[in-house]
Amino acid sequence: MAPTPRVCVTGGGGFIASWLVKLLLSRGYAVHATLRDPGDPKNACLKQLDGASENLRLFKADVLDVDTLTSAFVGCEGVFHPATPVPGGKIVDPEEEIMVPTVKGTKNVLEACSATNVRKLIVVSSVAASCFDPNWPEGKLKDESCWTDKQLCKEAQNWYSLAKTEAEEIALEYGKKSGLHVVSICPGLVVGPLLQHVTVNASSKVFLYIIKGGPDTLTNKFWPLVDVRDVTGAMLLIYEKAESSGRYICSLDQMDIKDIVALMRSIFPNYNYADKMVDVDYKVYTTSEKLKNLGWQPRKLEETLTDSIEYFEKDDADGEPCRLPYFYRVNAEE
Ligand SMILES: NC(=O)c1ccc[n+]([C@@H]2O[C@H](COP(=O)([O-])OP(=O)(O)OC[C@H]3O[C@@H](n4cnc5c(N)ncnc54)[C@H](OP(=O)(O)O)[C@@H]3O)[C@@H](O)[C@H]2O)c1
Repeated sequence: MAPTPRVCVTGGGGFIASWLVKLLLSRGYAVHATLRDPGDPKNACLKQLDGASENLRLFKADVLDVDTLTSAFVGCEGVFHPATPVPGGKIVDPEEEIMVPTVKGTKNVLEACSATNVRKLIVVSSVAASCFDPNWPEGKLKDESCWTDKQLCKEAQNWYSLAKTEAEEIALEYGKKSGLHVVSICPGLVVGPLLQHVTVNASSKVFLYIIKGGPDTLTNKFWPLVDVRDVTGAMLLIYEKAESSGRYICSLDQMDIKDIVALMRSIFPNYNYADKMVDVDYKVYTTSEKLKNLGWQPRKLEETLTDSIEYFEKDDADGEPCRLPYFYRVNAEE
């Protein structure tokens, strides 16, 4: 009998990562999950996943401490690296809050992979790293050859995009020079039900805000969107396909927020949706053809919206008054 394949997921308690751990366990993988604080109640859901008692091991590790990563990667043939801070509010100290954990954190993951003979690494980047190129031809869909302009990010103080772009570039370059097979995935805004019921991550807050409303005004951005379960499906597909290479944009066809709210109203008409919204000139058109050619089949947006609304109806997780993440707010000074 073939030995059980063993992989590690960094930041295993996160929104995307916890769904990935669930998927990997269901497909018969032995999973190591790194957590900064294994005792944090938000991580408790991992132990309740089917197969967890036999096949899940939790490791206390921080991406800023390479030795802790190395301990978690020992025995793994593959690593998935989603652990990055995803701030919902305005970033006050870019170096400390986002640049160092994202860029240095990714470098540490690369070093720990090489030290433990990991074969393949899937790095979770973002559409934010593949869409802000002022020289991209007008009207052409943005594909994997589009890289976010880092100087532009600095000028706009768009630290998240800067950090994700730099980390992804470093990881793919490292893969070319070392024996490590590095592939990256660039999801759009990730939505869907959550597995943990304690905190709400930044992208889910956009959705929760649309359903609950609050003090902020939404910007009607046109931004790619994707279901969390389809992101993790794509990550596993990329991992298992020996021929996968480079980067993969991972999103559905785009819609603006106003149309998404209209679609939600048509499915659940009796809801109090956020109604303060202004139009902005902000449209990002991407294509996920490369991922579809690898075999990716995302679900329909209606299913994602229905499952998300049903989830938040039952469980709005932290129960806190909702604020919109900074990126989607008009009154964005706080
Ligand atoms: N959600 C989206 O819309 C979206 C879109 C595109 C790309 N992404 C990317 O997807 C990945 C996961 O995002 P998510 O939405 O699942 O966010 P999330 O739920 O906030 O998860 C982020 C994870 O990163 C971990 N982390 C942060 N700093 C760390 C550090 N110094 N050491 C170890 N772990 C650390 C967090 O661990 P703690 O629990 O210890 O804080 C958490 O598990 C990120 O790389 C993000 O950039 C997300």
